[in-house]
Parts: sequence; C-alpha cells; structure tokens
Amino acid sequence: MGEGPAQTDGRARHVAIIMDGNGRWAKKRALPRAVGHQRGVEAVRRLVRGLEPMGLDCITLYAFSSENWKRSEDEVDDLMNLMRKFIKSDLPDFVANDVKLKIIGDWRGLAPDIVAMLEDALEQTSKGTKTLAVALNYGGQDEIVRAAAKAAEIGEVTAQSIAANLDTHDLPPLDLLIRTSGEIRLSNFLLWQAAYAEMLFVDTLWPDFKPEHLAEALDDFAKRERRYGGR
Ligand code: FPP
Repeated sequence: MGEGPAQTDGRARHVAIIMDGNGRWAKKRALPRAVGHQRGVEAVRRLVRGLEPMGLDCITLYAFSSENWKRSEDEVDDLMNLMRKFIKSDLPDFVANDVKLKIIGDWRGLAPDIVAMLEDALEQTSKGTKTLAVALNYGGQDEIVRAAAKAAEIGEVTAQSIAANLDTHDLPPLDLLIRTSGEIRLSNFLLWQAAYAEMLFVDTLWPDFKPEHLAEALDDFAKRERRYGGR
C-alpha cells in the first residue's frame, strides 16, 4: 500500500481510526481509566460488526502505540489484558463473519502469550474477506525506518519500494483517517499512508463512537473532492 493515492469511485474502502478519549470518558463519570478502555473495546466490537453493511474492505485501529509503554504499569497491564480477552472472546465472531485479522507494528515484542494468541488468530482468520487491522506496539516513523532499511537491502530506495515493505503493504490505500476526542494530531500513526488520505477530527470520545458516526463520516467522505495534488 502507499504507491500512490487511493483510486476510488467516491466510496471509502479503507478507514483508520485513532481511538482517543477513553480516559476522559471515564474521568467525566468518576470511573477508573480501565473502565474507559473496557468501554473502548465495546466500541471496537460494535464497529467490527458494522463493517459489512458499510461496504468497507478494511478498518485499521490504533490500539497500542510504541509510546504507550510510558503509561503506568497498571494501565499497560489493563490494556494488554483487554487485548487478551478481546481476542479470546471475539475470534469466533471474526471467523464466522469473514473478518481477517491483521496486526501492524512491532507486535512480536509483546508478551509471548499474546504473540502466540495473535499468531493463532491470524491463522484462523486468514481466509476472511474484510480486514480488521490492529496497530500494536506501532509507531509510524519506526514502520518507515524498517521499510526503508528493507528497501536499501535490495538496493532500491524509492517511494514504491518503501511502500512495498510497509506493514500495510497488502492493505488497500488509506482513504480516511479519523481521530476522536477533539485532538488534532497524528501521534505517529500511519504517517506514510496518510500522505493522500482525507482526515476527520471529531469531538466524540471513543467509547461513545457508534457505527452511525462512521456511516456519517463515510457519507461526508463520499462528497469530498480528492485531487491528489492535481487541479
Ligand atoms: C486512547 O485513550 C486510547 C488508547 C491509548 C488505547 C485504545 C485501546 C482501546 C480502545 C482498547 C483496546 C483495543 C482493542 C482493539 C482490544 P486515552 O487513554 O489516551 O484517553 P484520554 O486521552 O482521554 O486519557
């Protein structure tokens, strides 16, 4: 992915989301941050179930960045445990609904039991027709450095060869990048892939994000005129 801009018929095929605002959602209700993350997982689940009717081929979610290790040990543990629970509980659903799991980032650096669970989930969902890509231990700059190093190894450092070595090389070009919770920055997410993507920043906190919000974003996307640098 990333050889050039997406060529669509106006319909988005690949949407990526920076799921932000779990902590603030919990704080507003005087609940522990962990509850905000739990409700965040429920928002993920709702969205994955809504993939088919929205006609998307791929959704990429920023679940754990390479910078998230700086959070407290308790919060990192909570997030990792949620990941374990999510894979365990939702894997049968993915298989039944033709959802193919893909992981981007340096995920082999996670705890060995999570790596094993993910490997099994990748294998079990490999025949799926729609992709749920999850960014785990992911950093956009790191992804570009890894891809550029591989391109250099084969002696061909071009935009095309770097794109061919990105973690997302087998995903459709990114059409739309959404960030929730009112923050307006990319936070090291899909830096290369965002080159021609449309962006949408919404105030909704991630646990409150519903498939209707995404449907609205997709309608809005379909109305935008994409020029890819031309006029
Ligand atoms: C940002 O909210 C969210 C995260 C750092 C983690 C996102 C993770 C999930 C939604 C759950 C795990 C995902 C899967 C796929 C199982 P924040 O804590 O930065 O919120 P704040 O900025 O309001 O504090």
